[in-house]
Amino acid sequence: MAEKLIVRGDRPLEGEIEICGSKNAATKAMIASLLTEEPCTIENIPLSQDIAITKELCERIGSEVVCDNDHRCILAAPEIRTTSVIELSRRNRIPILTMGPLLHRRGEAEVPFLGGDPIGHRPIDFHLTALTQMGVRIERREHSYYATARHIRGADIELPFPSVGATENVILTAVLAQVKTRLTNAAIEPEIANLIGMLTAMGAAIRCDSSSRFMEITGVSRLRGVTHRVIPDRIETVSFATAALATGGNVLVRGVLTADIERFIDMIRAMEGRVEVLPDGVRFSSTPSYRPTVIEAAPHPGFLTDWQPPVSILLTKANGASIIHETVHEDRFGYVKDLRRMGAEIAISDECLGGPPCRFVNRTFNHSARIMGPTRLRGADLKMTDIRAGMAHVIAALAAEGESVISGVEHIDRGYEKIDERLRALGADIRRV
Ligand code: UD1
Repeated sequence: MAEKLIVRGDRPLEGEIEICGSKNAATKAMIASLLTEEPCTIENIPLSQDIAITKELCERIGSEVVCDNDHRCILAAPEIRTTSVIELSRRNRIPILTMGPLLHRRGEAEVPFLGGDPIGHRPIDFHLTALTQMGVRIERREHSYYATARHIRGADIELPFPSVGATENVILTAVLAQVKTRLTNAAIEPEIANLIGMLTAMGAAIRCDSSSRFMEITGVSRLRGVTHRVIPDRIETVSFATAALATGGNVLVRGVLTADIERFIDMIRAMEGRVEVLPDGVRFSSTPSYRPTVIEAAPHPGFLTDWQPPVSILLTKANGASIIHETVHEDRFGYVKDLRRMGAEIAISDECLGGPPCRFVNRTFNHSARIMGPTRLRGADLKMTDIRAGMAHVIAALAAEGESVISGVEHIDRGYEKIDERLRALGADIRRV
């Protein structure tokens, strides 16, 4: 039977929590290891389901993957066993990133249509156009994309929007092409900087000017093995911080890279929550009332879209009307109907509320939310539909009066290591059945 979480809420979270490595950085580092025949050691890998799925993907391709109990994995792919990974379809969005490594190692790649969270249409047209510009021939088949390339060509690529996945795909395809690739309007998320750091240590030549979103990649003939450390997970950091603040608690989040959560810290201070940046972490302490605020979720250095579902729970506690304008994923408010059943007053709109019009203006996407507070949430039966909305459900249940029963737990397990155990250590009444 599918697992559920039973949460009895309205208890302040208190104590200390150590942040795991970033899932979104670790999965890409695992794929980057396929670019070399030499072993790569990746440290600070979180033990979440998306890592297990990516491990299986790498093993299918030919990697030997050995992980220890200390969040460290050694991946070695001296030979590529298969260039087709279509049977691993629709479980997450990582398989498309194997195109570059497989094209370099074997001249062809067949990847499945992607899975991932239902937060918008999430096409891969930018990936396909960019790789085609680089000389890759891509054929759409019944259940897959089949790519071949004899030579990767130098190209000047401009992304229509700074897509994280498309930027990573261009980088992973360009590093071993013995030509120059220029990428404008690139995504510059910290997870991408972490990937560039790993590739540079492997011998890649990548110049990145973050302020102008420009990258120049000069392909090299080979890459070597490396020991690489994954950055702390800034999504997990914000999830625990928000859970502390929304439950009236006080939590020291350890192992945080403060620069990566600057926009969140600014928001909490503007709301009059207490934030102390300490040598060993950041302490988030609640206050009796919060000021409302306006958030625009946007590509880095903007407010991370993956933060908005957990943060929406804190906004139900603010004294007045807050706004979230989501400019990255067009359909990211699916979780709101469950929050309304818990007593939240949230109106969704297809207008660009709270700021300048975004690329979703005059479309029918419900991409803005107006949240009235303060409200006391009541426990309810909830169903997770994606990783980050799943975390919003958990935080809402922790902050609510009474009991909540949350199904769809497999979604949150994809992105968070032992979430129930770690919340229990902070005083949460949460159990898995
Ligand atoms: C990654 C993250 C995800 C995060 C997102 C934005 C991983 C595994 N996932 O997802 O958690 O929410 O970045 O920070 O790292 N788009 C297109 N065509 C494309 C590619 C993207 O239209 O070919 C659109 C998407 O539909 C979306 C926007 O661009 O509206 C951003 O997507 P993208 O940055 O590519 O997200 P992912 O890399 O899939």
